[in-house]
Amino acid sequence: MTILVTGGAGFIGANFLNLFVPRHPDHTFVNVDALTYAANLSSLAGIADRTNYTLERVDLVDRKAVEEVVARHKPDVIVHFAAESHVDRSIHGPEAFVQTNIVGTFHLLEAFRALPEVSGRLFHHVSTDEVYGSLGPTGAFTESSPYDPSSPYSASKAASDHLVRAYHRTYGLPVKITNCSNNYGPYQFPEKLIPLTILNAAEGKALPVYGKGENVRDWLFVTDHCEAIWAVIERGAVGATYNIGGRSERRNIDVVRQICTLVAEARGVPAASVLEQITFVTDRPGHDARYAIDPTRIEAECGFVPRETFESGLQKTVQFYLEQHDWVRDVRSGDYRAWLDRNYGRR
Ligand code: NAD
Ligand code: TYD
Repeated sequence: MTILVTGGAGFIGANFLNLFVPRHPDHTFVNVDALTYAANLSSLAGIADRTNYTLERVDLVDRKAVEEVVARHKPDVIVHFAAESHVDRSIHGPEAFVQTNIVGTFHLLEAFRALPEVSGRLFHHVSTDEVYGSLGPTGAFTESSPYDPSSPYSASKAASDHLVRAYHRTYGLPVKITNCSNNYGPYQFPEKLIPLTILNAAEGKALPVYGKGENVRDWLFVTDHCEAIWAVIERGAVGATYNIGGRSERRNIDVVRQICTLVAEARGVPAASVLEQITFVTDRPGHDARYAIDPTRIEAECGFVPRETFESGLQKTVQFYLEQHDWVRDVRSGDYRAWLDRNYGRR
């Protein structure tokens, strides 16, 4: 079986390939990635030389290149991770989000539709719970929650979900969609809350918390997300949507404090000395108050249960960022420093 993974050099895609390339030597994995700022090939160092893995550098915005790579590999399964993924970047520059997330998904769907025979194949679209907008203090998103995206990022992901669903209804393409809550773990680009906080905490820098830090996210360790996707590919119904979450809601301020405690422990310094680095900054415009997932469907139909608790996953994540100095150095390029200046410089 050939599995074409888009965005395999990014955070979740790399964790997916690191898990499944060694576990399934009988399958061929093709990583289709444009290698944007968010990609890091050193995340894939452990599998790069495997005979069942190849990399194709392709930008999904380039329709001809997408058609060519899909036609050549004739994948049995496409797992579509590639996206512009950061809400704050989408606020500063939404165009790349429209191009990659909407137009890129359209190109991939067209290339899949053009394969000689699509029945028996699968297009698995990886999406986010942010398409459902913001929750109040109670309740959780189900697969039938109405779409109500707040940011250019979530609006572009919502548009891509609609295209995937429309290609199923209109052209009969075999598709599945998963909408997952916030991920954390190794190889996440340190623009996102958890890795940014770990690195800044360890280096004595300010820990920026937007608004009052009362916004709530439902956190899932990245390999649990990958296992959930695999479970849906194997056992989910064609045409169906599955929400994925960890039943692990936390306020941002509590996440940041927990990281401070773990980093202080690892450094052998008093927690108070790290906690005092917390800095409340101007809120994100359109900041969703709360996300929470009701994972009943994926639990019942696919037998998915997360392995990590937030505590065990966060411990592993802190350890990764404190120990993988080469990986951290590789991702903190000039572009990363320019981003920090752009997003936090005037907050
Ligand atoms: P990421 O930003 O870490 O990685 C994105 C990858 O896509 C990179 O390797 C990048 O090079 C590639 N890419 C970007 N534009 C491309 C293009 N035009 N053509 C080809 N490749 C391109 O993202 P991530 O956090 O790994 O997220 C992966 C997917 O999971 C996304 O679709 C995202 O919406 C979804 N998701 C993420 C989270 C999360 O918490 N990170 C939660 C739920 C869903
Ligand atoms: P983030 O990791 O960007 O994920 P998302 O916006 O997709 O949920 O942010 C997680 C939460 O943390 C979100 O409520 C915004 C907040 N946040 C901060 O308070 N400070 C920061 O520096 C960042 C990056 C995020």
